Amino acid sequence: MQEQIMSILIKGSEQGQRYLSGGDMAKALGITRAAVWKYIEAIRKDGAEVVAAPRLGYRLADPEDVLMKGAVMPATQIIGGSYQYYGEIDSTNSEAKRRIRGGCQDGLVIIAENQTAGRGRMGRKWLSRPGKGLYFSVVLFPAYLPIDQAALLVPLTAVGVCRALEEFGIQVDLKWPNDLLYQGRKLGGILLEIGGEADRVRYAILGIGINVNLAKEDVPPELADIVTSVAMIKGEEVGRRLLLEKILESLDSYYRRFSRGGSDTFINEYRSLCWTVGRSIRFEWQGKIWDGFAQGIEADGALRVQTENGDTLALRSGDVHCL
Ligand code: BTN
Repeated sequence: MQEQIMSILIKGSEQGQRYLSGGDMAKALGITRAAVWKYIEAIRKDGAEVVAAPRLGYRLADPEDVLMKGAVMPATQIIGGSYQYYGEIDSTNSEAKRRIRGGCQDGLVIIAENQTAGRGRMGRKWLSRPGKGLYFSVVLFPAYLPIDQAALLVPLTAVGVCRALEEFGIQVDLKWPNDLLYQGRKLGGILLEIGGEADRVRYAILGIGINVNLAKEDVPPELADIVTSVAMIKGEEVGRRLLLEKILESLDSYYRRFSRGGSDTFINEYRSLCWTVGRSIRFEWQGKIWDGFAQGIEADGALRVQTENGDTLALRSGDVHCL
C-alpha cells in the first residue's frame, strides 16, 4: 500500500497536480484517511520528504529525486521488473549476491541511498555519498551466455549508461574497460560480477555507481581533481529518479537486443565512445608493466594493444593508464 501511495504521489506530480488529497487517495485505494496518513508517515520515515497542507493534502518535496519503491517506474520489460530500495546497505552488489542465493527474479534492481562498503574493481573501495549518487545493481540470468562472452556486459552497460546521460545533456567518454569519464575525471564506474558453470554464465550482476549530485564539498581533497559529478558538469542538481529511469530503460533495450543475439551495435558504439583507443598507454600484462598503443576494441570487448616491440595483444582485464 505504501508503494501505491508513492506511485500516486509521483503520477500526481507528473500530471502537474500540486497536492493530492488524502480523501481522494483513501477512496481510490479503498482505505481510510487515517490509513493514508499512516502510510505517508511510513514514507517519511523511509526518508522522503512529504509536505502536508491543511485541506489540500500531500505532495512530495522533490518527486524527481525519490528512489523508493513505487516511485521508480521505468518503461522496461526485464530490468526493474522487481526492485529493492535501501536507505543504507553494505554494497548493492553484495546484496545482489545474497538475493541470488535466496532465489530472485531476472532483472531485479537493488538500489541504496548509501553504501557503507561500496566496492570498485580490483578490490578498490567505492565512495558513496548519502542521497547524492546512484548506487545500484542489476541482476540478470541470461538464457544462454557463454563464459567467454560475459565481459561484453561491461561495454553494453557502459554504452547504455552513456546514452541515458546524453539525454541529460552530458557527453561522457568511456575509459576501457569500465570507467565513465568527463573531461578526464571520473563520473561513474561499473563493477561486473558473474557466476556460472564451466561454459556458461548463470548470473551476472551489473553494479553501477554514478556521481550525480555530489558537490565539491562532498569530495575529499585528494580526489578533488579526479572526480566529477552530473551536478558539477551541469551547474545544477538533477533528479536522480529521472536519470535512473532513463538508465534502466536504456540498459533494458541494449540487453534485450543482445539477448536476441547481437553485440555488433553496442560494440560499435563502444568503439566510437572509447577514450582509450588511439592513446599511448601503460598496462600490466602477465605480471609485468608494459607501454604500448591502444589500437582498438575487439569483437569480445578486449582492448587490442600494440606493445613497444611491435607485438599485438588483446587485453581482457586490468587497468590501463594513459601516458
Ligand atoms: C569502479 O569504478 O571500479 C566500479 C565502481 C562500481 C560501484 C558500484 S556502486 C553500486 C554497486 N555496488 C558496489 O559495491 N559497487 C557497485
